[in-house]
Amino acid sequence: MCGIIGYVGFKEAYDIIVTGLKQLEYRGYDSAGICTQHSQSLHLVKYKGRVENLQQSKIQGTLGIGHTRWATHGKPSDNNAHPFVDSQNQFSIVHNGIIENYLELKEELRKDHTQFTSDTDSEVIVHLIAKYYEGDLRDAVLKTTKRLQGSYAFCVIDKNHKEIIGARNGSPLIIGVGKNENFFASDVSAVIEYTKEVIYLNDFEIAKITKNFIDIIDFEGNNKPLAIQEVEWDIEQAQKQGYKHFMIKEIMEQPKVVENQLKVQFDFGSKPKTVHIVACGGAGFAGVLGEYLIEEISKIPTKFYHGSEFRYRKPILHEDDLVVAISQSGETADTLAAIRKAKESNTKTLAIINVVGSTIARESDDVIYTRAGPEISVASTKAFLAQILSMYQLAYALKNEVFTFQDYKEIIEQLLQLDEQIKQLAEKYFKYQNFIYIGRNRNYAIALEGALKLKEIAYIHAEAYPSGELKHGPLALVSEDMPTFAICPQDEFYEKNFSNIQEVKARNGRVISLATEGDEKINLISDDVIYIPKVDSILYPLLETVPLHLFAYHIANFRENDIDKPRNLAKSVTVE
Ligand code: AGP
Repeated sequence: MCGIIGYVGFKEAYDIIVTGLKQLEYRGYDSAGICTQHSQSLHLVKYKGRVENLQQSKIQGTLGIGHTRWATHGKPSDNNAHPFVDSQNQFSIVHNGIIENYLELKEELRKDHTQFTSDTDSEVIVHLIAKYYEGDLRDAVLKTTKRLQGSYAFCVIDKNHKEIIGARNGSPLIIGVGKNENFFASDVSAVIEYTKEVIYLNDFEIAKITKNFIDIIDFEGNNKPLAIQEVEWDIEQAQKQGYKHFMIKEIMEQPKVVENQLKVQFDFGSKPKTVHIVACGGAGFAGVLGEYLIEEISKIPTKFYHGSEFRYRKPILHEDDLVVAISQSGETADTLAAIRKAKESNTKTLAIINVVGSTIARESDDVIYTRAGPEISVASTKAFLAQILSMYQLAYALKNEVFTFQDYKEIIEQLLQLDEQIKQLAEKYFKYQNFIYIGRNRNYAIALEGALKLKEIAYIHAEAYPSGELKHGPLALVSEDMPTFAICPQDEFYEKNFSNIQEVKARNGRVISLATEGDEKINLISDDVIYIPKVDSILYPLLETVPLHLFAYHIANFRENDIDKPRNLAKSVTVE
């Protein structure tokens, strides 16, 4: 994870880097730092904590690099914060990724009397560059990359030259192409305020940027073309626009998201024999829903795998199968590894991705972009909705039909009006420490999502079960201190769900039911009911996420949590 940025141009690098790091904070936020070059020396500030801590110590220079960290090696501290400098204060680096052979490299460098100032894996990079430097920074970087194992995107500057070198192997790095200024960044959001023209670096590439020059070579030293692309969105979309948090802003944007997503075309030449869906976290629950839907709608055997499990369980893949990866960021390391594993078996891969130009999108045979727009909040909401909608589109496309849902946008608008009611409900429930979520069949996928959101942003222990599983163990947990959130729309499973809720009530459990408008009977067994409009049975999951996300949001807000940047997490998980 971690966010990196580099600037070379004519403006104060510090200002641009701080602004860019704020956009990148979703990638990690336990420490931050900047190094600038000014008067032929390097100037460094770095602190444990948020980017805003940097505001106390402005440093000069029109060239610099910055970093916001999500700790992997070494706890969050001033010393472990990036950038790192070499012993002579001549070079400085920022790194995103993991250097797997750092212990051996550290041992080797220590024998050369190198002093380390941190517990990180990243620091070896700057000392290797110092070791290999013979007057050309890019040559030193090229030699350094030959020594590194693991994944990385890093940027390096030296105290004398007005240039930044960036290298990529397994972690994202883009170049922002400006006028008399150029940028490096982990993603487009950090540079979109200054330019809409970007180059997505590929793995095994090294780029050199000055204020009016860009040059890319591969790790063998061959020149590479500059493939400049135009970014489709703008800075307003990545700002809060008056909302207290990005999460609630992104929830409120969903009518537009579904309108755009419904226009996306899914086409398939031939039917796969088996569909394998791979994804992590919340995106994985979209995958669980996809598993139910594809089998039900297109009758193709479908299996869901957690991204982190896929390659280790030796999946049985055939050339006429299809591996589908779902990811908002398109950078999730485990999902990416699954795509690479599928390619080893010559199995066709399809990526359903939100971030245009991301690594999984580029490495898959086919890509379909979800149309959620930039999502900043670590807790995914609008991208999740676009992902589950894409599962319907995929399931119907595999049957050679087009999925349609008339009035869906209006229904989402109507669901958003539940905000005030759900806020009041959250006020009633925000002090509970444990929750159970239940749902049957496709609705179970949404129960999983509801529980994850409560864990992620409210720090409340929440577990999700298929409703019928409750009596096989979890029912022992039920008491008046552990409420159950029951997803119980009027679908073909209604009566079964109803009985399961009764089992909870019979044990003094409190119940919040998510039910269909007009269902009065559910009041008999629920403490509170949230009503959603009546639709075809199969469509209910598309309505259920809005109330569940609002519930988690308001609970977290009453608990005064840092909703957009929950503790210990990062949005883009680029490590295993
Ligand atoms: C969702 O709210 C979480 N932030 C997380 O589980 C996320 O869905 C997961 O890390 C996958 O991310 P991706 O969609 O970018 O691959």
